[in-house]
Amino acid sequence: MLENRYEPPRTPPLSPLGGLLRTLWRGDGDLLSLMPATAYRVPIGPLGYSRRSILILNDPALFRSVLTDPLDVYPKNDLMTGALEPLVGDSLFVSSGPLWRRQRAMIDPAFSQLRVTQAFGGMQAAVAAYVEKLARQAETGAPFSLDFAMSELTADVICRTIFSTSLASETAQKVFSAFAIFERSAAHIELPRLIFSKAFSAIPQHDAVLNACEEIRDALGTLVDARLALPEAQWPDDIASAVMRGEDPDSGVRFTRKELIDQLGVFFLAGHETTASALIWVFFILSQRPEFLRPLREEVTRTYGAGPITFHKLRSLSYTRAVFREAMRLYPPITFIPRVATEPTRLGAYRIKRGAMLMISPWVIHRHEAHWPKPHVFEPERFTGDGEKSHRPGTYLPFGLGPRVCVGADFATIEASLIMAELLRGFDFEMLEPESVRPMARLTTRPREEIRARVHRRR
Ligand code: HEM
Repeated sequence: MLENRYEPPRTPPLSPLGGLLRTLWRGDGDLLSLMPATAYRVPIGPLGYSRRSILILNDPALFRSVLTDPLDVYPKNDLMTGALEPLVGDSLFVSSGPLWRRQRAMIDPAFSQLRVTQAFGGMQAAVAAYVEKLARQAETGAPFSLDFAMSELTADVICRTIFSTSLASETAQKVFSAFAIFERSAAHIELPRLIFSKAFSAIPQHDAVLNACEEIRDALGTLVDARLALPEAQWPDDIASAVMRGEDPDSGVRFTRKELIDQLGVFFLAGHETTASALIWVFFILSQRPEFLRPLREEVTRTYGAGPITFHKLRSLSYTRAVFREAMRLYPPITFIPRVATEPTRLGAYRIKRGAMLMISPWVIHRHEAHWPKPHVFEPERFTGDGEKSHRPGTYLPFGLGPRVCVGADFATIEASLIMAELLRGFDFEMLEPESVRPMARLTTRPREEIRARVHRRR
């Protein structure tokens, strides 16, 4: 239907040179505006502006073979691991080979379905506290940053479910503020490095980033020490304790203090920015288009009436989940899933050199003309009923795929459904300058400028 053809904001792609000049001119290192128009059409192709070879992979058979590679030929890309290393060491998100296998086996139980079910109480408490805050904001009518609001809310969820503490605590505040510095400075892709650096070269970090990482790691160390000082029977029943109890499947040995700090840093990093990014776009889109908000609210009322949003019925919010999934199709929080070839190899018709960067971009794949009809149009029906058959199998990967698929996928889906249901049934969100909103790739897919919003009690 014509009225439903809503194309939310994007930066139209240019030629390779045009995209490069645009990005250099803006000086923000946005990899999305660098992506040439051809990237959205080819199954595999070079992104030709770099000293090292960079290839984009869009064909499901090709990117699947890289992401499921059993021989460890394509580990995480060195530019990304170098940028994250000061914060998260050699932890789950960045490690590879046998070290990664050991860590994954020790951490998977902490994100089992049972554990996520148990975490729901912490999610509810964070959302209830946030609803109170929104109610106050609705009374004053003061504008606020939607980006900051979503980061704050999802960081509070992480604090409560992983560490059994709220974001209001002094330690959590320290981590949150230092993380904002890390996000602004380390995430910034330095274009000269991408263009001129040789593969596997060392990545010097700015002092501000190193200081922020040290502060975050100190604060996490305080949390770990406080827990290690208690008899194990008194550890809180949360995800951090589950990770602390994790044992190496061969030796039975647990994580060291340093390893625990690495892993908990990853949960904070990977666990709140991503969900915040998805929710920013959900709330933005729904504020622009009542035709998607209406059925979502009807579904929440049909399921819960005015009662509490409980865990056991959450999975029946199929339209709500479809809105979340479609928002992540158009704005996948992890814009790029980069890998590096550690030996010469072959992908399709291409010879791959050692050191070549392989870009698997959920952003590009989710908007690829060969995979999705009307790729830029927002249509939650793609994820309900027969709509699932409308796109090419294997081309939806906001949580990655293969053995390194996101450990927090279930957690994030439940958290987002709860937040959407609870906030949207009580409040209307008004965006102050919707026409100026544009996405860009930072650490996650974010608005280029923060989105200013106002909230009103639902009439
Ligand atoms: C909407 C929210 C989220 C999105 C879109 C997302 C996306 C992803 C993606 C694409 C990957 C794979 C990266 C790659 O292969 O290079 C990943 C991995 C990971 N995610 Fe998430 N994530 C989300 C939420 C979470 C949450 C809530 C947590 C934990 C609390 C989490 C923890 C992790 C970890 C630890 C990994 C590394 C797994 C491994 O390499 O074995 N994520 N995530």
